[in-house]
Amino acid sequence: MKILVTGGAGYIASHTNVLLLERGYEVVAVDNLSNSCEESIKRVEELTGKKIAFYQGDCRDEELMTKIFQEHKIDAVIHFAGLKAVGESCRIPLKYYDNNMNSNMVLVKVMEKFGCKRLVFSSSATVYGVPKKLPLTEDSPLSVTNPYGATKLLGEQFFGDISRSDPDWHVMLLRYFNPVGAHESGRIGEDPAGIPNNLMPYVSQVAVGKLKCLSVYGNDYPTKDGTGVRDYIHVVDLAEAHLAALQHIDEHQIGIYNVGTGVGYSVLDMVKAFGKACGHEIAYRIAERRSGDVAECYACCDKAKKELGFVAKKNLDDMCRDLWRWQSENPNGYHA
Ligand code: NAD
Ligand code: WQD
Repeated sequence: MKILVTGGAGYIASHTNVLLLERGYEVVAVDNLSNSCEESIKRVEELTGKKIAFYQGDCRDEELMTKIFQEHKIDAVIHFAGLKAVGESCRIPLKYYDNNMNSNMVLVKVMEKFGCKRLVFSSSATVYGVPKKLPLTEDSPLSVTNPYGATKLLGEQFFGDISRSDPDWHVMLLRYFNPVGAHESGRIGEDPAGIPNNLMPYVSQVAVGKLKCLSVYGNDYPTKDGTGVRDYIHVVDLAEAHLAALQHIDEHQIGIYNVGTGVGYSVLDMVKAFGKACGHEIAYRIAERRSGDVAECYACCDKAKKELGFVAKKNLDDMCRDLWRWQSENPNGYHA
């Protein structure tokens, strides 16, 4: 089977590409490298001993997307391409709506033209907005708290409408919780541009000495230690969920799944666990709450278990150990 992976040089895509190639899928990847570099593609090839047909370009470029489908008989698409920085999406909403929505539309247009109607979409726990009841199930109310989240919710609605319009379409919407960690080889991992927005890349850069001190955003939430609680999932487990989704895609016209572990850890749990993995304490200070943050967010993962046979296997120590290996062996990410 030949899979087109959009955003194929990115963090989650690179880990998924390894599994796809290891399990005998052929991978075609497209990425405009707006938040990644081609080195991740090379490292995946190195790790697996297999080639990726890589196209540098934009998913909104209909001519390029058409060329890819002309040159390859694509069986299914995993659509990772997207911008994901919540803060930036509030400052420059047009950039997010343009990139994330137009990519979806051009992709579907070209897929329809070539009769390729299997799609796995990167959605996010952000579509639940502020949780009213935990754990979050796929039926929990949906809402939007920022433009990035709006593009994910609109994306879900768009792909849902497409799938309902034609029984030949099969769409899987995967709502990721908080992906962290790296491949156990230490060769691929998350390589954020500039100062990281997310907790674990920030913590790992403090650990390696690139940043001085973590700001913990609030210690007065109604949680066990006052800091925010999230459902962190190892990126290799998350990658596995995509393979499970592909295996079950023909059974569903539209499948919606939470992809998490079902376990919530606080910011201080994460700081402590990472300190254990890297062998020294992580410097932190308590700061103001970050606007838009929720106190707690974690998934009910029963549906993915029941329908996809997917259960996350890696624990917090695995996440921290693998992230530390990646960060300490590649202090500047993919850049030498
Ligand atoms: P990432 O930035 O590492 O990967 C996204 C890739 O898409 C990047 O390589 C980027 O260059 C590429 N890209 C962006 N717009 C493009 C376009 N128009 N055409 C071609 N390539 C384009 O991010 P990631 O963490 O791997 O996330 C992958 C997907 O998962 C995104 O859609 C993101 O919104 C979603 N997601 C991520 C998280 C998270 O916390 N990492 C959580 C939930 C959902
Ligand atoms: C986790 C916890 C922070 C940084 C974001 C997006 C979401 C999804 C995943 C794509 C929170 C605290 C963080 C720091 C801190 N992405 N924190 N100091 O906010 O749960 O989710 O990424 O879909 O849409 O919103 O993840 O890693 O930013 O924060 O104290 O420097 O760590 O307050 O409690 P979040 P995060």
